[in-house]
Amino acid sequence: MYNTRLTPMDLKDKSFFLRTFGCQMNESDSEKIAGILTAAGGREAERVEDADIIIVNTCAVREKSEEKLYSYLGRIRPRLDARPVLVGVAGCVAQAESANLVARRPFIDFVVGPDNYLRLPEIIERCGERTIIADEWSNDWREAPDLLFRRRSPATAAVSIMEGCDNFCSYCIVPFSRGREKFRPLRHIRAELAELAARGYQEIQFLGQNVNSYRDPETGTPFAALLFEAGHMPGLKWVRFLTSHPKTFSAAIIEAMTSSPVICRQVHLPLQSGSTSVLARMNRGYSREEYLAKITLLQERIPGISLSTDIIVGFPGETEEEFGETLSALEAVRFANIFSFRYSPRPRTSAAKGPDDVPFDIKRRRLIEVQALQKRIQSAIHESLIGTTMAVLGEGPSRKDPAMFSGRNESYQVVNFRAPTDVRGRFVRVKISGSGPYSLRGDLVED
Ligand code: SAH
Ligand code: SF4
Ligand code: F3S
Repeated sequence: MYNTRLTPMDLKDKSFFLRTFGCQMNESDSEKIAGILTAAGGREAERVEDADIIIVNTCAVREKSEEKLYSYLGRIRPRLDARPVLVGVAGCVAQAESANLVARRPFIDFVVGPDNYLRLPEIIERCGERTIIADEWSNDWREAPDLLFRRRSPATAAVSIMEGCDNFCSYCIVPFSRGREKFRPLRHIRAELAELAARGYQEIQFLGQNVNSYRDPETGTPFAALLFEAGHMPGLKWVRFLTSHPKTFSAAIIEAMTSSPVICRQVHLPLQSGSTSVLARMNRGYSREEYLAKITLLQERIPGISLSTDIIVGFPGETEEEFGETLSALEAVRFANIFSFRYSPRPRTSAAKGPDDVPFDIKRRRLIEVQALQKRIQSAIHESLIGTTMAVLGEGPSRKDPAMFSGRNESYQVVNFRAPTDVRGRFVRVKISGSGPYSLRGDLVED
């Protein structure tokens, strides 16, 4: 039987440092790992130099993501000779590569897949003399009801509702790194939402590889009903969710979104390619027309909806004509934001069994074209917002100019503004006075 009780162990006086790569789910998992290790008596170090235990939380989605692990390990390697430090690898590379990782980098002390984080205190206690590999799959959700995440933001909380994926898109390693879909019992989600609202969190982001396939494992309650409920919970100001799969994005979800102003008018809906033939080879389960019809429905039912997407260029066999259909889909939808990638063959996926036959230079040129088109679209969308006033949730100092503050609006656009006080975690009103392709600028307005 898997023990989900947290028992304080001998991590007293031990400090740990977490380095996180990858998606929001990894960010959230690192907050969970930090919570687990803190509950076991450990202390989070701010700098890697001060840590007794270094854990790298990894992403395997593209070759470049995986390389980040190896270059990070290369950078910390010299430190390991200076004093005893335990090195652990967590996340998607840990799960997908497990023992191979230790064969490649023998100084790794433990490898822990996403289903095994609750065992971390015990793993850390046992390892040192021998390497521990914890890569067992779990078929159902593992919950530690008394676990407090160490959340990085005072205002925005990610809440995982499901994990894993059954879709097997032909290019994607996630089903091999996160396993099959498993759903978190609704009563645990409810309890967490109530606690977050009581602690003053303003914004909730539901997380999962495919949130819209969520079903409460105990009652069968679907995602649309969970969304409706969150939209009517006292205390929460904004509710978002990520990622949705176009194949199962239903009218019921759209109706739930219209039921409450708390549910942000914003959806991330990965298109991947605008070509029906490429989508079929990707095993995405929808055509260009079906995707565009869902977008039209969303735009009709939720005026002002902000849409974002993921795009892959240079998928095997992608012709110039097929690529052109991705460009025309971007023009048709006018996404507020896109994440675009060159196709990268991943181990065990079905696409990687065939040739990676679009030459690198063509992939590169297509990515540049996609990004240049999107830059034009985004610049125009941002410019049209000049003069409007909007609610912004303050996040922290702007990355480019520390004299400015940065936050996000309901559409999830970045808004920079000057603020006389620290508005981190607070809602403010900002009048937009300027814009660029990737952010908006404005001035605080008194209510
Ligand atoms: N669950 C999400 C996506 C998770 S991975 C969904 O279904 O859309 C995030 C993004 O990485 C994907 O949407 C895809 O655009 C990109 N990606 C995944 N595998 C890739 C690969 N082998 N090469 C390039 N990009 C990839
Ligand atoms: Fe990967 Fe497809 Fe699953 Fe998304 S839906 S995680 S792209 S297999
Ligand atoms: Fe990467 Fe795993 Fe997320 S492969 S994108 S960290 S689910």
